[in-house]
Amino acid sequence: MDSSSKLKSVLITGCSSGIGLCLAHGLRSEGYRVFASARNNNDVDKIKALGFESLLLDLSSSDSINDAISELYQKTDKLYALINNGAYGQVGALEDISRDTLEKQFQANVFGWHELTNLVLPKMRKENIGRVIYISSVLGFVAMPFRGPYTASKFAIEGLVNTLRLELSDTNIKFSLIQPGPIESKFRANAYLAFKENVDISKSNYKEQYNTMIQRLESDENVQFTLPPEAVLKCALHALKSSSPKIHYCVTFPTKLFAFLGRILPSSWMDKILKYS
Ligand SMILES: NC(=O)c1ccc[n+]([C@@H]2O[C@H](COP(=O)([O-])OP(=O)(O)OC[C@H]3O[C@@H](n4cnc5c(N)ncnc54)[C@H](OP(=O)(O)O)[C@@H]3O)[C@@H](O)[C@H]2O)c1
Repeated sequence: MDSSSKLKSVLITGCSSGIGLCLAHGLRSEGYRVFASARNNNDVDKIKALGFESLLLDLSSSDSINDAISELYQKTDKLYALINNGAYGQVGALEDISRDTLEKQFQANVFGWHELTNLVLPKMRKENIGRVIYISSVLGFVAMPFRGPYTASKFAIEGLVNTLRLELSDTNIKFSLIQPGPIESKFRANAYLAFKENVDISKSNYKEQYNTMIQRLESDENVQFTLPPEAVLKCALHALKSSSPKIHYCVTFPTKLFAFLGRILPSSWMDKILKYS
């Protein structure tokens, strides 16, 4: 265990499952003091039963975010790192996505992350030390059809982080974006729930494409090149421990491939590839 990391506090959002829960376990075993948050009381209880300090934090609610931060600062006066992780994927063709559905996607995936980050930055500034890690996605820099709301939310996050990095460049607060491709978690199951809740297939021009998409979302089989959440943990640990954390961490082969292709191919060629993804 790295003794320098001992008792450094880290707040992670979205720890009920998947990457967030894996990060909570992994960081605790590395000696960090982990505050693992979730948006439902049942999950907070389950996380506490695993021996973690847990907070109720729903990123779609300003009240919930503010209450969680008040509770956090009653328990610790310093926060070394925030890991912005909690999010969901709203899938569906953009023509079938209402303003309300897009707003809901941004409330959770963007506005909540922004508000929470702004609440932890003052103390980090005071200490002049801190790490803010954002779990973005390959969809933070390429677009794929039928994933528009989620893609837009991750592009927005990348824009916010790239700006924060410039604005706080004279501080010792470092910002990193982790960009996973497919990772084992409940992400697809949760995306399917959001799809069923918010997209009316009967009125859509894309019924055929939705059938294919639904088969994929309902399948238990991992898509090709899926990695376990530990692949994200490895990058998060580097972003927390390194004296010069990377700005971008590409996780999985598809992310690395699209990052490379995006640099060398014209946009029209990228569209020809991405339209079949
Ligand atoms: N899995 C992938 O293939 C993949 C790829 C690229 C990026 N990512 C990113 O990785 C992160 C973690 O996702 P995951 O793969 O671990 O999926 P997951 O298993 O579905 O976990 C998502 C977590 O976010 C939480 N969440 C959703 N809406 C929230 C809200 N309004 N407030 C607070 N928490 C909320 C979920 O809580 P509930 O259980 O209450 O819904 C859950 O704890 C996300 O940012 C996602 O965009 C995932």
